[in-house]
Amino acid sequence: MCRLCAGPVRQWVDLGRQPASNAFLRPEQLDSETFFRLAVGICADCTMVQQLEAMPTGSMFRADYPYRSSTSSGLRRHFQDVARTLRATELAGPGDLVVEIGSNDGVLLRALHADGVRHLGIDPSAEAAAAAAADGANVRVGFFDEQSAAAIAATEGRAKVIFSANTISHVARIDTIFRGVDLLLAADGAFIFEDRYVSDIVEFGYFDQIYDEHFYLFAVRSVAAMVARFGFELVDAQRIPIHGGSLRYTVTRRGARERRASVARLLDEEARYGVAEYETYLRFGRQIDRVGSDLVALLTDLRDAGRRVVGYGATSKSATVTNYFGIGPALVPFICDTTPEKQGRLSPGAHIPVRPYEAFAEPYPDYALLFAWNHAAEIMAKEHRFVAQGGRWILYVPHVRIV
Ligand code: TYD
Ligand code: ZN
Repeated sequence: MCRLCAGPVRQWVDLGRQPASNAFLRPEQLDSETFFRLAVGICADCTMVQQLEAMPTGSMFRADYPYRSSTSSGLRRHFQDVARTLRATELAGPGDLVVEIGSNDGVLLRALHADGVRHLGIDPSAEAAAAAAADGANVRVGFFDEQSAAAIAATEGRAKVIFSANTISHVARIDTIFRGVDLLLAADGAFIFEDRYVSDIVEFGYFDQIYDEHFYLFAVRSVAAMVARFGFELVDAQRIPIHGGSLRYTVTRRGARERRASVARLLDEEARYGVAEYETYLRFGRQIDRVGSDLVALLTDLRDAGRRVVGYGATSKSATVTNYFGIGPALVPFICDTTPEKQGRLSPGAHIPVRPYEAFAEPYPDYALLFAWNHAAEIMAKEHRFVAQGGRWILYVPHVRIV
């Protein structure tokens, strides 16, 4: 049953038993993993793409949640840009408040703080929030919902902007977010959020964007229907080149602003592309299985030929790839990653060791399986020596290939 409108949800893929994608394990935690069935469907009524079972929120977003937005120079630049855009388009003066839902290690808050913008971030991962606070940003530890929103409104006043990147789709009980926004947002304020675009995920074959945290996969049509249920209106939607293809949605109270032409344009595109059609997703599901058999065959051949393969980037996405296709340390002995919080741990479910980034070059492997494909340009430029001495990249979206 649809979590938004109670309509029937038709399943189009079952990616099997999956762990919490960011629960990197210490060896003594191997027996206490939480699993769920990662199946995805589309609501026949409101067209929202959503999971059929939800990983418990408390298993996903713990105090030691290891993801850090600031590790990517691309994301640092992106959020500096967001800060500039908010100042130029939404904020009248320094007194206007920006609240960020899911502020992680403060990659956006730091930019707002540097510009003298009044801001407050809220995030359940205490360690990431502490990193933001250490840089001078204003943060609270916790989930954003009616209670925390009311508490913020009571001490800080209403927010001119509520911003969120890649967070609100993570919350199956998304009604708690919108009720919180209703309590906190100024009458003429904007709720601006960014998220991966389901249309790009299907078109470009980014199947590994499906993992526990991405409970909903948004499209303009389904988001417009969703926000309307809570008394809001989608007034703008813009494509942004983040995580392989995302949209930035601008939502206001109903009737507060005129809807921009971008919304109708994207709705047209979506209708032509079939983003609300069940068959579009069935085809996508078959493509996922082809990638799996090709990738396992390639990794098996390389191992049998005595070649060394290393995983590059212990992404959340890699949990879906390794667990659904059954890729463990026998095929990929370790994954290197720059995030200290992930190093020395085992990847969730598949239990592939995560080693520091330096291990990549000690010595270079024959092949690197690029799990962090969304940072391909940044990583390939940085790793030119790997290729210069004969190394090759393995990519698997939209299909398996060596470059
Ligand atoms: P991200 O792309 O945000 O993926 P996801 O949302 O699927 O978790 O995470 C990228 C991961 O790759 C993160 O763990 C950091 C790592 N990484 C490197 O190890 N080296 C790099 O140069 C970059 C850009 C990222
Ligand atoms: Zn629905």
